[in-house]
Amino acid sequence: MIILLALVAIQTMAIGQAADAKAAAATGGWEFPKIMGWVLGITGAAIALIAMGFMLKVNQILYRKLLVLESEKRGLPLPESFNVVPEVETGDDFWTRMRKKYWEDAVPVEREGEIMLNHAYDGIHELDNSLPPWWVNLFIACIVWSVGYMWFYHWGGGGLSSGEAYKEEVATAKKEIAMALAGKANAVDEANVVALTEKSDLSEGELIFKGSCATCHGQLGEGAAVGPNLSDEHWLHGGGIKNVFKTIKYGVPEKGMISWQSQLNPAAMQKVASYIISLKGTNPPNAKAPQGEIWVEAGAAADTTATKVN
Ligand code: HEC
Repeated sequence: MIILLALVAIQTMAIGQAADAKAAAATGGWEFPKIMGWVLGITGAAIALIAMGFMLKVNQILYRKLLVLESEKRGLPLPESFNVVPEVETGDDFWTRMRKKYWEDAVPVEREGEIMLNHAYDGIHELDNSLPPWWVNLFIACIVWSVGYMWFYHWGGGGLSSGEAYKEEVATAKKEIAMALAGKANAVDEANVVALTEKSDLSEGELIFKGSCATCHGQLGEGAAVGPNLSDEHWLHGGGIKNVFKTIKYGVPEKGMISWQSQLNPAAMQKVASYIISLKGTNPPNAKAPQGEIWVEAGAAADTTATKVN
């Protein structure tokens, strides 16, 4: 009987949960089937509770039976209280009755003689007092809670297990870090740009160069019919990362070098500018004749503002 009830309970919860999952997949919202899922889940839990009540009752009956058998075997009388079913005083109002029944249904210590079992071990006696109802109720509430908990977190409810929650948090954190880094990279401008030296950044810069710039500046930056040599020490618009970045960003439209800021984000412009800086001294073949001034990093290497920029 109990097993049957438990099975029904589990089955009901499973149906509820399946309906729930389907509803969530179909609509993602609180549609009727989802509410149905909850109703079924709660019903399942209620049935489980009733099954548990049954189990307690059966246990109690078996226990009394055992006591009777035991007392007969040993020829010891059962305590008087044994046959007294705790009578709820009818004179009490509803709340008092509730309190007595569900909160303090225990024989007080002054009346311990009534519930003394005739065992004595080294002068220690055993009393057949009931467990404090508040404690038992808490215990039952915990079990009921655990069913909902298991359903929510482990059997397909909406909750994440600790492992999943951890993974989710890590993924979110990674996204946030990536966004923060991207934000930082995109905050690069001609005033704060620095030349990158990481191999990966330079090869990304090279890719951009080969894709967008090589037609006019040559595959190796040696210069071509239209664009000047970018691998020598001569610069029309100033060398150094800040000037190169600035030329790329704003272009020299009247001379055929477009502004790239609408096509490349700041991080990409920084990478391609860094790649150009890295070309210095590579002496590619077929180099175009130098144009502009020899550019010398003014004083301290970082201080490019000291050089006049057109
Ligand atoms: C359509 C042809 C063309 C393309 C494509 C082009 N450029 Fe240029 N670029 C020029 C020309 C022409 C100049 C010279 C402008 C001048 O005479 O003032 C120039 C100048 C430059 C300079 C300044 C050189 C100096 O001596 O000061 C840099 C740096 C530069 N380009 C980088 C790039 C980068 C990076 C790209 C690709 C993202 C690129 N260019 C794409 C035509 C081009």
